[in-house]
Amino acid sequence: MGENGNVWMPDAMSTVASEVDSLFYFVLWTSTIIFALVILAKVYFAVRFRRRDPAEVPQPIHESKLLETAWIVIPTILVLIVFTWGFKVFVKLNSPPPDAYQITVRGKQWFWEFQYPNGTVVANEMHVPIGQPVKLLMSSEDVLHSFFIPDFRVKHDVLPNRYTSLWFEATAPGEYQIYCTEYCGTSHSGMLGKVIVQTEEEFAAWLNEQSQDLPPAELGANVFRQYNCGVCHSVDGTRIVGPTMKGLWGAERQFEDGGTAVADENYIRESVLNPGAHIVATYPNAMPATFGSLSAKQLDGLIAFIQTLE
Ligand code: CUA
Repeated sequence: MGENGNVWMPDAMSTVASEVDSLFYFVLWTSTIIFALVILAKVYFAVRFRRRDPAEVPQPIHESKLLETAWIVIPTILVLIVFTWGFKVFVKLNSPPPDAYQITVRGKQWFWEFQYPNGTVVANEMHVPIGQPVKLLMSSEDVLHSFFIPDFRVKHDVLPNRYTSLWFEATAPGEYQIYCTEYCGTSHSGMLGKVIVQTEEEFAAWLNEQSQDLPPAELGANVFRQYNCGVCHSVDGTRIVGPTMKGLWGAERQFEDGGTAVADENYIRESVLNPGAHIVATYPNAMPATFGSLSAKQLDGLIAFIQTLE
């Protein structure tokens, strides 16, 4: 939340965000005013027309045509305004401009993968250019997820076996939170990402740099961070969902089934790609087999990174 947000609304940082907010506030304020009028009238009538004498018989009343017409016509007009306005915003939210820049989004337990038109794949950090409509073509490789960027006021379910999409145009550079808003398993709450909005030039430079030509341990540290491995695996010895990475390299592992193995390159590779193959004793079989898209280079990097965590 930045300087434009308030206690119950985050910043409005996309071209459609203020329209969504205006509609929301219109509904909120008309409802609040009508609620207040109804309550005030109720209290007033209760006092004004209270029974003053046990023998009192109230006079029959005759309806006011004007009053009845008013409370039929005014709410009808209000509802029609909300419908037309809401429909317009809905259509706009669901019609990406034809020149939109397309990024493919894959939801997996428990991270987001973003693929750019040049083939670059990154996890959890989506860089986008400012002032350009961006269309996200989204699907899931496992269960239902939901992609939500509060600052942009866009949210859509991400489904297996089907594409869904949303679009936005960011209005200011900065970092904005991405949430998964569909309960999708153990680390649902850790399925977080960031949109990083950059100028056209910064974005182009970033996209160019996304080669995997880094020293292996650095590349591995990036992969570890981007793919949120730290949600389940600590690097400082703390026990979380899965075993810590600290001191893993070269250590003897005790498995649930009584077997053992030394944590070498092949053990780590197998544990990433096929996590259920050997379960370390006292830990649950909780890691999804969703990391098959890691390149050989990224796996080498992870192994090199784990070697540094003595
Ligand atoms: Cu993915 Cu919740």
